[in-house]
Amino acid sequence: MDKLVVRGGVPLQGSLTVSGSKNTALPLMAAALLAEGTTTLQNIPNLKDIATFSNVLRVSGAVVNAQPSTHTLSIDSSRIEYPEAPYELVKKMRASFYMLGALIGRCGQARVSLPGGCAWGPRPVDLHLKGMEAFGASIDLDEGYVVAQTPSAGLPGGIYRLEPSSVGATINLALAATTARGGSRIENAAIEPDVVVFCEALQAMGAKIEGIGTRTLEFEGVEALQPISFRNCPDRIELGTFMIAAAIAGEPGQPVRLNNAEPAHLGQAFIDAFQQTGTGLTVGTDYVQVTAPETLRPVSIETEIYPGFPTDLQAQWTVLLSQANGPATITDTIYGDRFAHIPELGRMGMFAKVSGNQVTVEGNQQLQGANVMSTDLRASVSLVLAGLVAKGETHVLRIYHLDRGYERLEDKLSNAGLYVRREQYDEFATPETEMA
Ligand code: UD1
Repeated sequence: MDKLVVRGGVPLQGSLTVSGSKNTALPLMAAALLAEGTTTLQNIPNLKDIATFSNVLRVSGAVVNAQPSTHTLSIDSSRIEYPEAPYELVKKMRASFYMLGALIGRCGQARVSLPGGCAWGPRPVDLHLKGMEAFGASIDLDEGYVVAQTPSAGLPGGIYRLEPSSVGATINLALAATTARGGSRIENAAIEPDVVVFCEALQAMGAKIEGIGTRTLEFEGVEALQPISFRNCPDRIELGTFMIAAAIAGEPGQPVRLNNAEPAHLGQAFIDAFQQTGTGLTVGTDYVQVTAPETLRPVSIETEIYPGFPTDLQAQWTVLLSQANGPATITDTIYGDRFAHIPELGRMGMFAKVSGNQVTVEGNQQLQGANVMSTDLRASVSLVLAGLVAKGETHVLRIYHLDRGYERLEDKLSNAGLYVRREQYDEFATPETEMA
């Protein structure tokens, strides 16, 4: 298995380049199933999640070709003949559940494994299912699979109100609604940039959608969509992660430039909180420049739906707070038990107390290098960030979680002057076998 070895106390210098957005690439790939022919997607990150979802698409009959050197993915959906997403793949990645909407939209039927929980607790899909029913699909459960069927004349379409607003359900319902027989409306739709860019791609494919970027999405069903060539947006969570890295590990007063960025996708809450820490921030059209301050101020945050503070950045914010000059809190209102990183950070000497959906982080902490374990994607990267400011070496084990969402993180960080190395290790080695 692979681990990352991080040496603390080395300053981050120069620049970092942000890859294409994982969370937008996945729905774009699902959208490609709706159009007969070859859709070409650019700025697709080379990540395990993309490879997993490519395999999900292949099961249904799509021919998927990745060109990692150019970050291009071509998806030939001429023949989609097997409308199923099997458990073996869906259990690896929840976004595979987008196959429900994509296959209903393309084939009028779908058999998709239920995703189950994840490392930080249950993540329901009830809104996806109720929405599909409201649009006129019949939904049955069969041995852990969702079996969906539209009437023979096609999906009638309908109105569904999401409560709470959900990124995943908005995308799934949009996939089904674009080729419905009639019109559909999603109320309280998600307005996360991932959803907006995905809807813009659907529109470019010929979908009739009104209200993109607002809480109400209106669809007028079209017969079929056309394949397109589309450029994916930069990853806002990677950008936020790098901004935090520059704030805690940059040399005070020395700017670090983050390229290929889309700062508007971060949401105002993150930008406001970031600036309140005293970190210097210059926002350009496709870059940001971050200048670490002498002293970081503690800033409490609460995760919220966009443009609120992203839940995908709260684990990283914890590490920033540990370096601030006083205590502050993190409250996750989206996933109230997403704190698997706290005990691992505790192994590095971080003092943080979880109470309900809130963590209180003490500031002014000198972290210590340790062996720590990744539990999920964002938790893993928070451990790498902690390693950057810890004394000594941190070994972040089980980084297959990290590889799901960060492309060549060790190379990017090393190129910016940091000491981060990938090494292999034997998960089951005892001290004796390690010495042998
Ligand atoms: C959430 C984040 C997304 C992030 C992802 C992975 C939000 C709004 N969404 O997306 O930005 O990339 O985690 O970390 O911050 N819900 C239901 N029933 C459903 C679907 C959702 O009750 O059928 C609830 C969820 O439990 C959650 C909320 O709705 O409390 C938002 O769900 P959703 O946006 O779909 O979550 P994810 O797609 O997991």
